[in-house]
This record gives sequence, C-alpha cells and structure tokens, in this order.
Amino acid sequence: MSAATSGALAAEGNGMSALRVAILGLGMGASHARAYREIEGVRVVAACDTDPARLAAFARENGVSVTSADYREIVTRADVDVVSVCTPDHLHYEHCRLALDCGKHVMCEKPMVTTLDDARELVQRVRSTGLAFAVGNVNRFVPHFSAVKRMVETGRLGDLFFVESDYIHDMRRVYQRTPWRIDARNPQNAWLGGAVHPVDLVRWIAGDVDEVMLYSNKCTSAPEFPLPDNYIATLKFRSGCLGKVWETSGIRRWPEHVVNLNAYGSMGTAMSNTLEMQIRAWLDPDMPGQADATVIPFVRTVGHPVRAELEDFVDAIRGGRSPRVGVEDGAKTVATLVAGLRSSETGRPERVEPID
Ligand SMILES: NC(=O)c1ccc[n+]([C@@H]2O[C@H](COP(=O)([O-])OP(=O)(O)OC[C@H]3O[C@@H](n4cnc5c(N)ncnc54)[C@H](O)[C@@H]3O)[C@@H](O)[C@H]2O)c1
Repeated sequence: MSAATSGALAAEGNGMSALRVAILGLGMGASHARAYREIEGVRVVAACDTDPARLAAFARENGVSVTSADYREIVTRADVDVVSVCTPDHLHYEHCRLALDCGKHVMCEKPMVTTLDDARELVQRVRSTGLAFAVGNVNRFVPHFSAVKRMVETGRLGDLFFVESDYIHDMRRVYQRTPWRIDARNPQNAWLGGAVHPVDLVRWIAGDVDEVMLYSNKCTSAPEFPLPDNYIATLKFRSGCLGKVWETSGIRRWPEHVVNLNAYGSMGTAMSNTLEMQIRAWLDPDMPGQADATVIPFVRTVGHPVRAELEDFVDAIRGGRSPRVGVEDGAKTVATLVAGLRSSETGRPERVEPID
C-alpha cells in the first residue's frame, strides 16, 4: 500500500472523508502531488497534461488511473473535490474558472492570473461559491520570511518606513526544461511570473500598495527569452511606507536563484534571503551599543514550504476558512503587478486599481 493510500484510509477510518485531488500541469504539479501525499486524508486521483509522456510517467509513479490531455474531462468529474492548477501562467484563469464553476476547491499556482479583469472575475466567483481558493505565493511559508513578518507585526522594528524584496533568478536552465516560458506565441511575462514573489512579500509585510513606478530592460545573457527580463520598481504603500522590488531573470549567476526580504523600521532592521536560511537583525533599542547584526539561524528541515502551503489549503477546506494566501491577496498582487506594467508603458507612476 502506498503512503498516499494508507494516509487517506487512516483519515477515512477516523470518520474524515478523503479529499480527492486532480492536478493540471505536471511540472510544479508533481511537487504538489509529493506534498499532498504527505497530508493525511488527501488522495491524488486524477491528472492532466498535454504532454503524453509526462502524463504517463506521472500516472505510473503516483498510481493515478484517471488521466487526460483535456482539462475539461478531469475538472468536470464528480469524483474530484479539489483541483491544483499548475499549468502555464496564461491558462490559470480558464482552468480555475471551470474548476470553480464545477464546485471544486482550487489551489492555483502563482501568478493567480495575468490580467486585472480575470483577477476580479475570480474574486467574484470565489465569493459567490464559498469554495476555498489558495494562491501559490509559497514564499509566505518560508519560516525566516514568516519570522520577519512577525517582527514587523509585533512592533520589534518600530514604524516601518522601507521594505524591499528581490527575485534574482538565472533562468537559462529553467527555459530549457519549461519551453512554454520562451514560446514566442505566448511567452511568460517575467514581471508577472517572477516579480509576483517579491511583490506579494512586500504587500504582506507593508500592506496595500497605492502607486508603482516600474522600469524595465532586457538582460543580454538570455536572448532566447523574447521580452524584458530585468525590472526595477519603486512602490508607495497606503501606510506611507516606501518599497523597492527588483526582478531579474536573464542574469548569469550561481546559485541560480535567490529571494531577499529586508524590512527597515524606526527601531530596527531585519534582513533575510533564501540562500542563508537566517535573519540578520539590528535591534539597538533592545540592545544598546549593538555593534553588528544578531544572527538568527533557521533549520532547513523545518519542511518544504510547498508542503506547509498545501497543509494550510487542506486545513482551510476542512475548517471552512480562507487559505492564508486567498483569492483577494492573489488579486491585489496581480493589481499591483498590472499597475507596474502600465507604468513601464506610460513612464509615470501608476495607481493600483481596486480589485472590486
Ligand atoms: N510557486 C513556485 O515557486 C513555482 C515554481 C515553478 C513554477 N510555478 C508556476 O507553475 C506553473 C507551471 O510552471 P512549471 O515550471 O511547472 O512548468 P512546466 O512546463 O514544468 O509544467 C507545465 C505543464 O503544463 C502542461 N500544459 C501546458 N498546457 C496545458 C494544457 N492546456 N492543459 C494541461 N496541461 C498543459 C505542460 O505540458 C507542462 O507539463 C506556472 O504558472 C509557474 O509560474 C510556480
């Protein structure tokens, strides 16, 4: 018996009905499947991918018998309760919309959608159906970023006046294994697909954004990517705090990927990133005369953030509450990103439009 089957049966034995999950898109979707397998009372029962070899391998490795290249055949099934949408960015809206219309709870990978109209539509649909809808802004589940958030919330840093986050990714190897990103017919937008991480983080730390000014250019080291892939934004938050987001995805570097999150307040500073698994904090009012940073290390094995993200989603379904990153957060992040794209066209700061 597989771990997935035994977990689901244990849950059913406890009087809890198993949640039956379908996964659309089996790249990031395979990571979802691994995480679902470790959650009690959850079974991956169906899968969809337009790549037949990938679909067959996934079905074999995960003991999934219901498969299709057509998402409609999977999403409309009565024996599916939950849909994880892990297809390319520009397909999220269409896939999420049908899943909600069919009464399924939805876990949607980031970015939630690629236009503000689509974001608003999904907000309305989730509100009217009452279904659980989570967005894959997984960095909120990174323990040392959560700790920075707690330091801000509990006032350890005093009044926040500046927050910055960067998404720095040498994507050249990723382009080889996920060619949809560089497909000239519908390439990924690097600002929407990459900056969604840091924009969501700074919104989480400093609240809603009023205005964005965005500049972009093209890194020269990834000519296969057809759009701008180097973006710098300044942000003005409703609270009066200011912020900066840098997204770059055509650079040459190793390790190939890092996300930073730094928060600056009247009583202290906290700096953190995904390479070092630690916070460096300067908290002089607590430690007068502090000459250098206090380093707070975090344990890498505390759990993969995707697992924590999906545990929260499953718990939200069972508890009838909103997931920690719900549809409104997803929509506000999209609205902020879209204001940035408008700004890069007009050359002026642009206001973030409301989500309803
Ligand atoms: N949260 C994160 O940190 C994170 C990391 C990587 C990717 N993502 C997101 O996950 C999504 C998928 O990216 P990926 O890296 O897994 O790409 P990928 O290419 O590895 O996987 C996407 C899969 O979708 C399949 N597909 C394409 N069109 C389809 C359709 N119409 N119906 C069904 N399947 C279809 C492709 O064949 C492919 O197997 C993107 O939205 C991406 O932004 C999120």
